[in-house]
Amino acid sequence: MNILLLGSGGREHAFVWKLKQSPLCKALYVAPGNAGTSEGAINVELNPNDATAVAAFVKEKGIDMVISGPEEPLVRGLADQLKADPELQKLHFFGPGAEGAQLEGSKDFSKRFMARHNIPTAAYRTFTRESLQEGIAYLEAHALPIVLKADGLAAGKGVVICQSNAEAVQVFREMIEDLKFGAASARVVVEAFLDGIELSMFVITNGQHYLLLPEAKDYKRIGEGDTGPNTGGMGAISPVSFADAVFKEKVVSRIIEPTIAGLAAENIAYTGFIFFGLIKVGNDPFVIEYNARMGDPETEAVLPRLQSDLLAHLLAACEGRLDAEKAIFDPRYACTVMLVSAGYPDAYEKGKVITNIEAVRDTLCFHAGTKWQGSRVATNGGRVLALTAYGATKAEALQKSFEAAETVQFEGKNYRRDIGFDLD
Ligand code: AMP
Ligand code: GLY
Repeated sequence: MNILLLGSGGREHAFVWKLKQSPLCKALYVAPGNAGTSEGAINVELNPNDATAVAAFVKEKGIDMVISGPEEPLVRGLADQLKADPELQKLHFFGPGAEGAQLEGSKDFSKRFMARHNIPTAAYRTFTRESLQEGIAYLEAHALPIVLKADGLAAGKGVVICQSNAEAVQVFREMIEDLKFGAASARVVVEAFLDGIELSMFVITNGQHYLLLPEAKDYKRIGEGDTGPNTGGMGAISPVSFADAVFKEKVVSRIIEPTIAGLAAENIAYTGFIFFGLIKVGNDPFVIEYNARMGDPETEAVLPRLQSDLLAHLLAACEGRLDAEKAIFDPRYACTVMLVSAGYPDAYEKGKVITNIEAVRDTLCFHAGTKWQGSRVATNGGRVLALTAYGATKAEALQKSFEAAETVQFEGKNYRRDIGFDLD
């Protein structure tokens, strides 16, 4: 098969690494990719959000399958636009259409969906400018802390957890009246705070059946001990020690199966990944959010633990044969440490030459924000490299990842030395 993968991060480099191992993979293009993806695949300068350009490329190269790494093309309806093209009736698109992608693209949509299907999640109300006064009264009487979420996509920044009612009212006004997160916060979901420990689970689905992938825990804060501002993710661990068989069975029966059945019952066509952002409260799972894609950096820990053929699974989903697929997992730990640029997640510089990648041993080196600068690899983003190592124990895997993190050099390199600190 000829494949076009959309995106440019560590997640996409991990996809390239895994897809290239499949005997089904012929040509693999990545749009736009990074310095790492250019080694296993062909990078193309194509904007994933430009449906017309993507369609033209698919025709020119005889692409059989398009896979979207990020959510934005999905929420904008790229799958629907390609499927509407009479010349692309045979194309497989792995990722939901705009309607299914609303699970991620609209918090209000996803909360209403969960309510309809009795899927456990925090209690909530949704408000807009029209219901501003009602919202303020609701916030003034709300138990603390209070979680405010911009309804739409806000690049992972649209959630604010408020410690007082007055702060919540102020942030709420800024979101709705001043559009603090742009049009995404014209509608605001107010949620009860859930106190627990988070993890993520992932499925490949065709809207009827699903294939469970290994679970992972990511580390979102910039600072050690989970302090400081949120980032895209500073590391990931798989498997997750507190997600034992009993807990995972609860996730499957209370959350994953009702979600797939809910999509089917509502006739929402959905071929793609579903990322379940979960929180364990006591011994019970609740949904924090859905994403219509894989996580980053979770993918860099999850795909190394998938021993079976990812591309065969994706094709089976597209062809409606997913029920016959079996995913095989590597029992070892896979631990990912992210190297980031100085200053990230605030302003940072790009273009720092990266050295010593070739000296890394026994660790997978997935490029995130990198580019070619002449014949040298240089930084090109806040998150620069995801280093994933295997181990019989979490400690053994982490030791290798941290060793690699020490080996690779670039000016301003930063990383968290405590990834996995909170797990057994
Ligand atoms: P989201 O973008 O919905 O994943 O939210 C970002 C982060 O905010 C999550 O990863 C949680 O750490 C936190 N969060 C969101 N909703 C809640 C909630 N209801 N209770 C506690 N923490 C939450
Ligand atoms: N690491 C969280 C995400 O991909 O949304």
